[in-house]
Amino acid sequence: MSRVRIAPSLLACDLGRVADEVRSVAAAGADLLHFDVMDGHFVPNLTFGPGLCAAVRRLTELPLDVHLMVTNADDLVEPFAVAGAGRIAVHVEAVTHLHRTLGRIHALGAVPGVAINPATPVAALDEVWPLVGFLLVMSVDPGFGGQRLIPEVLDKLARLRAIRDRRAPGVELAVDGGVESDNAGELQRLGADILVAGTAVFGAADRSAAIARLRGEEAG
Ligand code: DX5
Ligand code: ZN
Repeated sequence: MSRVRIAPSLLACDLGRVADEVRSVAAAGADLLHFDVMDGHFVPNLTFGPGLCAAVRRLTELPLDVHLMVTNADDLVEPFAVAGAGRIAVHVEAVTHLHRTLGRIHALGAVPGVAINPATPVAALDEVWPLVGFLLVMSVDPGFGGQRLIPEVLDKLARLRAIRDRRAPGVELAVDGGVESDNAGELQRLGADILVAGTAVFGAADRSAAIARLRGEEAG
């Protein structure tokens, strides 16, 4: 089993000190930085735009993992790619012409991802496996940080892992929502390559220890 990668979600950081927060998780060994974009339509909350993404880009070399929880992803992939997003995920539930949208992300030089909500069946992804670099397997209904992981997602993750290994070994599986040290080991065992974690990282005073715990390492 290769080492799981950790993507702290900026949604849970102290927004009054974004620059310090970004630097603290970079120094603590984060592999990616997860950037939650919410539009107040697809999800009942509003967050960050391309301007903040570009500002964060200037603070760190970490890959920016942009999660678009928006109804108009087609309007936003380009501004986020220009702002420095290296990875952009759109929701299978929100995008009408998914091949076109994923092709656009790829053409803009970013890695295309598809996010899938807890209640959306795995079959919704059947036709897009060859087009994606990663799947963002939602383990909560998106919109807010600090929710509890929905347990039915564990079996779904295992099924996605089996399909991935058979059909598209290059596709990374990321799990997003309610990830904490108590479930991180099981998520890894069931097939997660990347764990997105907001509260579990930014809610901890010692970010290195929090990231180590999510990896299942002894905090040094
Ligand atoms: C939920 C977001 C998640 C969120 C995770 O809508 O997509 O990325 O920030 O936060 P925690 O880890 O606190 O559940
Ligand atoms: Zn997210």
